[in-house]
Amino acid sequence: MKSRGKIGGWSSLALPAVFIICIFVFFLGFFGSSILSQQVETEVSLHPRSSRLLNEKVYEPLPRGHSGDDFLTTIPFQVLSWTPRAVYFPGFATSKQCESIIAMARVQLSPSTLALREQDTAENTKGIRTSSGMFVTANEDKTGILDFIEKKIERATMIPRSHGEAFNVLRYDIGQRYLSHYDTFNPAHYGPQKSQRMASFLLYLSDVEEGGETMFPFGNGESVGATYDYEKCNGLKVKPRKGDGLLFYSLYPNGTIDPTALHGGCPVIKGQKWVATKWIRNEVEFY
Ligand SMILES: *[C@@H]1O[C@H](CO)[C@@H](O)[C@H](O)[C@H]1NC(C)=O
Repeated sequence: MKSRGKIGGWSSLALPAVFIICIFVFFLGFFGSSILSQQVETEVSLHPRSSRLLNEKVYEPLPRGHSGDDFLTTIPFQVLSWTPRAVYFPGFATSKQCESIIAMARVQLSPSTLALREQDTAENTKGIRTSSGMFVTANEDKTGILDFIEKKIERATMIPRSHGEAFNVLRYDIGQRYLSHYDTFNPAHYGPQKSQRMASFLLYLSDVEEGGETMFPFGNGESVGATYDYEKCNGLKVKPRKGDGLLFYSLYPNGTIDPTALHGGCPVIKGQKWVATKWIRNEVEFY
């Protein structure tokens, strides 16, 4: 009897309850869809092909601080990966700027070298890095192009240019490559360091017909520490395109080395690859 009475009580409540549930579901759907459409709108406005949506609004620059800019800057970018943190900047430099940097570097190239660990010798590291290269600072470039590029890198990274090493301009011919490596110098292998390479900016100075990609073996979610063939060209691959920039971070925000920042240069299969690298340190003292 008791249970029956209860059932009777429920059924007398059923109609208003259904009504309230209906209203609830309706509002849930209503607000849910408006939130969803807002999200879609934000994503669309961030999409490069829909930059028109952003441009409808005209922004005025704000009053600047002592060392800031008077103008607004647009530097398009695409986040390629969070493991490691890698960002792509299409059209970072013009074709003319790239050609001028190549012309300047070409006459000063010599075989690239490696920073050796205790157990390394010139003989047992032969073949790891087979490019030719040269170092040049923005000051040494009388055309002013490297100065311009360096300032742009400074803006894009918000790391002062005083933290950047000289540009390392490199040429890779067919078959030349750089096996997977870290830009950081792990004190466990290299001894105490005055500073660490926290980020690397690569400016591609030429198109490469085939091969020559920058690869991040752990950039597609492969787990760090799993047996990995350092000679292989796999993972997340970035195809070099004249004028494009690639920035990645080798340190986590807390300053420890990001093991997923392992990277290399795939062998050039067809064509020639030119790239200008800037290593950015976490201190202004380098060596
Ligand atoms: C630093 O940050 C990384 C990534 O967030 C984390 O895995 C690591 O434990 C941190 N290390 C220290 C010493 O806090």
